[in-house]
Amino acid sequence: MVKMNPIMVSFHFLTLFLLFPSHANSQLNDQEQAVLLRLKQFWQNSSSLEGWTPSNSSHCTWPGVVCTNNSITQLLLDNKNIYGTIPSFISDLKNLRVLSFSNNSIVGTFPVAVYDISKLEILDLSQNYFVGSIPDEIDSLSRLTYLNLCANNFTGNIPASIGRMPELRTLYLNDNLFDGTFPPEIGNLSKLEQLNMAGNGFLPSKLPSNFTQLKKLKELWISGANLIGEIPQMIGEMVALEHLDLSSNELTGNIPGSLFMLKNLKVLFLHINSLSGEIPQVVEALNLTVIDLSMNNLTGTIPVDFGKLDKLSGLSLFFNQLSGEIPKSIGRLPALKDFALFSNNLSGSIPPDLGRYSALETFQVASNRLTGNLPEYLCHGGSLLGVVAFDNKLGGELPKSLENCSSLQIVRISNNAFFGNIPVGLWTASNLQQLMINDNSFTGELPNQVSTSLSRLEISNNRFSGSITIEGDSWRNLVVFNASNNLFTGAIPQELTAFQNLTTLLLDKNQLNGALPPNIISWKSLTTLNLSQNQLSGEIPVEIAFLPRLLELDLSDNKFSGQIPPQLGLLRLTSLNLSSNLLFGKIPTEYENAAFPSSFLNNPDLCASRPSLYLKVCFSRPQKSSKTSTPLLALISSVLITSFLLALLFSFIIIRVHRKRSHRSDSEWKFINFQRLNFTGSNILSGLTESNLIGSGGSGKVYRVAANGSSVVAVKRIWNNRPLEHKLEKEFLAEVEILSTIRHLNIVKLLCCITNDNSKLLVYEYLVNHSLDQWLHTENRSNSAPSSGNHVVLDWPKRLQIAVGAAQELTTGKAANHGDEDTCLAKWAWRHMQEGKTIVGALDEEIKEPCYVDEMSNVFQLGVFCTSTVPSARPQMKEVLQILLGRSHPLVYGVKNTGREYDSTPLLKN
Ligand SMILES: *[C@@H]1O[C@H](CO)[C@@H](O)[C@H](O)[C@H]1NC(C)=O
Ligand SMILES: *[C@@H]1O[C@H](CO)[C@@H](O)[C@H](O)[C@H]1NC(C)=O
Ligand SMILES: *[C@@H]1O[C@H](CO)[C@@H](O)[C@H](O)[C@H]1NC(C)=O
Ligand SMILES: *[C@@H]1O[C@H](CO)[C@@H](O)[C@H](O)[C@H]1NC(C)=O
Ligand SMILES: *[C@@H]1O[C@H](CO)[C@@H](O)[C@H](O)[C@H]1NC(C)=O
Ligand SMILES: *[C@@H]1O[C@H](CO)[C@@H](O)[C@H](O)[C@H]1NC(C)=O
Ligand SMILES: *[C@@H]1O[C@H](CO)[C@@H](O)[C@H](O)[C@H]1NC(C)=O
Ligand SMILES: *[C@@H]1O[C@H](CO)[C@@H](O)[C@H](O)[C@H]1NC(C)=O
Repeated sequence: MVKMNPIMVSFHFLTLFLLFPSHANSQLNDQEQAVLLRLKQFWQNSSSLEGWTPSNSSHCTWPGVVCTNNSITQLLLDNKNIYGTIPSFISDLKNLRVLSFSNNSIVGTFPVAVYDISKLEILDLSQNYFVGSIPDEIDSLSRLTYLNLCANNFTGNIPASIGRMPELRTLYLNDNLFDGTFPPEIGNLSKLEQLNMAGNGFLPSKLPSNFTQLKKLKELWISGANLIGEIPQMIGEMVALEHLDLSSNELTGNIPGSLFMLKNLKVLFLHINSLSGEIPQVVEALNLTVIDLSMNNLTGTIPVDFGKLDKLSGLSLFFNQLSGEIPKSIGRLPALKDFALFSNNLSGSIPPDLGRYSALETFQVASNRLTGNLPEYLCHGGSLLGVVAFDNKLGGELPKSLENCSSLQIVRISNNAFFGNIPVGLWTASNLQQLMINDNSFTGELPNQVSTSLSRLEISNNRFSGSITIEGDSWRNLVVFNASNNLFTGAIPQELTAFQNLTTLLLDKNQLNGALPPNIISWKSLTTLNLSQNQLSGEIPVEIAFLPRLLELDLSDNKFSGQIPPQLGLLRLTSLNLSSNLLFGKIPTEYENAAFPSSFLNNPDLCASRPSLYLKVCFSRPQKSSKTSTPLLALISSVLITSFLLALLFSFIIIRVHRKRSHRSDSEWKFINFQRLNFTGSNILSGLTESNLIGSGGSGKVYRVAANGSSVVAVKRIWNNRPLEHKLEKEFLAEVEILSTIRHLNIVKLLCCITNDNSKLLVYEYLVNHSLDQWLHTENRSNSAPSSGNHVVLDWPKRLQIAVGAAQELTTGKAANHGDEDTCLAKWAWRHMQEGKTIVGALDEEIKEPCYVDEMSNVFQLGVFCTSTVPSARPQMKEVLQILLGRSHPLVYGVKNTGREYDSTPLLKN
């Protein structure tokens, strides 16, 4: 997995050169010293060359200078902070064999002056800022054995002449901006041992079959380089191959059987391609240490022969369509550390010996159809970090051995058929961070103490019972506690209020009783509180209104009584449910609106100050007379009469208010601009006339409006039949704002957005020379002939580009999520790509091209990461970018490296 540092390689070559001191041609000597001093002068910014000072000691002792027979043969100027270009007088050092400039800040085009150094064997220009293309005359360097140009800004084609450098053993061209082709002539480099062209934007090309003539090639890296077509069948002729990485391309077809015959092959990376068919069943490449075929379209079974790979430490086959059983022999591999088979159709039981003969670190088999028990020996080697086996048909009790697994960080086994008690020691395993065992049939009680590392405890939909008792402060780091739908009894313990980092507390559908504990004011991080369907009683404490982060509150289906604290109206809730309790009195006025239609149902004594569909109107009770001597009959009749009059009065008010409100709701517009504009909302609104209409369709109408005399804008009006829910509305606005920050050729600039309850106006730049109608009037698109040229449909690649752009435009400072914990840019990107419709009609387009499935699933996973409710479990925007660019292997975000892994369930359930 670790690529050998090219600099190290060059170092090995350098040690081949020995020093032979002898009497010198002193004239040459003086000349060469003069060249060095001139270089120092030329790169005056480089303080690292300060050691180059004339003295009675020879310049052959200066840093970075190596002489042979008293003449300079090596100039090793790596990491010397050199700025500027390479001057042409460098070629005055005629005897140079090694010239190395790695990791400086050198600019300019390829230094052709080096052609005049006829003895040059090693040239390293890596990690600088060279631009332009590699010159055709590169083959003038006929003695070159080592050429390293990696990590620069070279562009264009790789010239065919590079195939005429017969001595080349190492050729590194990776991580540049090459955007043309690479020549099949590279296949003529008969001595080549290492070839790396990864990470370039080549024009889509096949892997030339000529490359299979490279019989001495040990390392071939062409990942992320736009390879298409099939892997050449003759790849098995590259008998020296040890390391093959063709990942993150668009390769199709089968994996050639000959690949698994390569006796020296150690590392095989073909992940993130579109390879199909079965994995070759005959495996004689016994030196394999890592196999990664994940994220392809492979079918059939896992070869039994994999059980012969005694050196195999990593096996990644996830996101394919593999079926059948996992060969039992794989469980006995002595070197196996990482095992990732999730998201396939595998069935049968897991090899029972897995972990018994090797120090297993990660075990990921989620989302298959596996049955039977979890293997007993998973943690036998004492190195197990994660057990990820959710969404299977596994059953039985958890292995007792998990009790003594101090390395364990993550256990995710939700949605299986496990039963019995959780082994006592598992709760307290010292490094356990996530225990997610929802949707099983576990029984028993919660422990008083848990691992102090535990941040996520999810045990919903099981049969846990007893009371929730918390002792000491071992629970203090809990962030998510989901115990919904169990059989818990007793009160909510006061100790629970001490969890300052708790964001999510779900205890609904249990049998809890008693009042809410005092001190809930210390839930400083809590965003979601669901206690519904219990038998909780007492009043709703006013402290709830002062929880600074609370967004979702559900206390429904309990026995809460008393009045709702009016301060509850201060909360900015996205959802609220207090229905089916014994509450009375007036609801907070802030909730008297259509966004909370069912928040207060089934509380016989709740009322509102204004009439609504669900609540009666409050009225101040008539003053009771202090004298109670009035005859009963008179009292009754007076009450009746009063009620009748009141009823009349209120039905009158209802009609009035209703009229007033329905009038109001059409006129309250909200104006949201994303930049300084020279028009106002009313300029736009007054322009929405039939004469300005330029298109219409199912989701709305498009107008051309002269907003302020001169400036013309396009306005798309989207109708909603009903007001958006509060939360959706918020998301809409956050997303529109992100959209407004995108600068992209394929997107018309969004200037502002004007909304009210019933419709949304999206105001765009009006592009005279573009077919605006085509842009905005999506309904016509399907009818029109396949459009050429200015194609406006946002297909997957474009959407990906946009997401990448946005991830880059948003890394610094600005919150990508508009302050909403639940939304993040990648989720937005994912959803955009999945259903562009929800945002702007202009972008709507179904995207289901199969060739993009891989990228889509990457982004899909990102979406899952990003929606994690634990902020610390979300990827950095930088990581997001790497995945969006297809540069990064999702496995590195697995449990092993960062304590996370992806879970496809939350979004699927969305
Ligand atoms: C190099 O030195 C010159 C003059 O001292 C200065 O103007 C220039 O900014 C320096 N360049 C770099 C890259 O440090
Ligand atoms: C010259 O060499 C002598 C002996 O090696 C040393 O003592 C002296 O400091 C050197 N002079 C300079 C200027 O480097
Ligand atoms: C050094 O010089 C001697 C005599 O000129 C020669 O024989 C020898 O090959 C030279 N060594 C190298 C490495 O060039
Ligand atoms: C090199 O390319 C990168 C990426 O395109 C760019 O950000 C950078 O400015 C370029 N640097 C030079 C010196 O061309
Ligand atoms: C590539 O290989 C084919 C078949 O071996 C051969 O005909 C062709 O000349 C080779 N191309 C180059 C550029 O070497
Ligand atoms: C594996 O590697 C060893 C040493 O690196 C080598 O001797 C052997 O031939 C290779 N192939 C097999 C199949 O062991
Ligand atoms: C809560 O979170 C903060 C910041 O993430 C962390 O430093 C702290 O240790 C956590 N636990 C407690 C009990 O505050
Ligand atoms: C995967 O393979 C199946 C048949 O094996 C095929 O129907 C499907 O289109 C392929 N999907 C992709 C994305 O290549």
